[in-house]
Amino acid sequence: MSDQAHELREQVRERYAEAAVRAGTGRDASCCSDGGPAAIKDLTGELYDEAERSSLPTEAVLASLGCGNPLAVAELREGETVLDLGSGGGIDVLLSAKRVGPAGKVYGLDMTEEMLALALANAAKAGADNVDFLKGHIEAIPLPANRVDVVISNCVINLSVDKPAVFAEMFRVLKPGGRLGISDVVAEDHLTAADRAERGNYAACIAGALSFTEYREGLAAAGFTDIDITPTHEAAPDMHAAIVRATKPADAQRPALPLAPKSGCCG
Ligand SMILES: C[S@@+](CC[C@H](N)C(=O)[O-])C[C@H]1O[C@@H](n2cnc3c(N)ncnc32)[C@H](O)[C@@H]1O
Repeated sequence: MSDQAHELREQVRERYAEAAVRAGTGRDASCCSDGGPAAIKDLTGELYDEAERSSLPTEAVLASLGCGNPLAVAELREGETVLDLGSGGGIDVLLSAKRVGPAGKVYGLDMTEEMLALALANAAKAGADNVDFLKGHIEAIPLPANRVDVVISNCVINLSVDKPAVFAEMFRVLKPGGRLGISDVVAEDHLTAADRAERGNYAACIAGALSFTEYREGLAAAGFTDIDITPTHEAAPDMHAAIVRATKPADAQRPALPLAPKSGCCG
């Protein structure tokens, strides 16, 4: 990874570590006045309905930094396995856990220690025992291939410094026939990278946003089909919070099975 990519990732980590500490001490994590998720949320009003919010620990709601509600489109079913990329304080993990029930499982993945600590505390308060929080990067998901039915994510992929790797990893961990339900910020195609950076900084979820065409082409290059990107509301001039849906084809090649160990090698 280049020095610039390292630097950007560190800026993102620091910003969300600070947000986690705020939420953990009973303050709203959407603290910042430089655009991004807080500003986006202000545009929409609340992203989650009253029934959803009141079913969760206050700190999980305070830590919400998304730009949409991926569960509104993910159509989760009992018994499914879900992965939330960039799970933050755990709001979408905890809501998913209720939908998939005790026979299901929800993984949250985040790179920021402080967010993971907050999410674990929130899961304990919520009494959710069908959830697991993993530390790692969404560009190298620490799960085996073909493990999950649904990948969700809320305002995180724009923050990645290697989006092709994220798309490839989502495809790898999904079971054939599995699906994506993502909220993210997406730029109109005519905006250059410089235009996007003028509208808001990278860690605030604006400068790193892909355009509609870049998003569609990136998902298709990874192997996804049935790609749909629907803008929901403006996040910055000519930039939109959007819901992204796509499917891993049911006949997608499963990776080759690992070679059988040589006889006599293992104790
Ligand atoms: C805008 S917040 C959204 C959090 C959560 N999805 C929500 O809706 O409240 C972004 C989250 O993604 C995490 N994140 C950003 N880039 C990441 C990466 N490359 N790998 C793993 N986590 C990342 C941050 O630590 C932070 O918790």
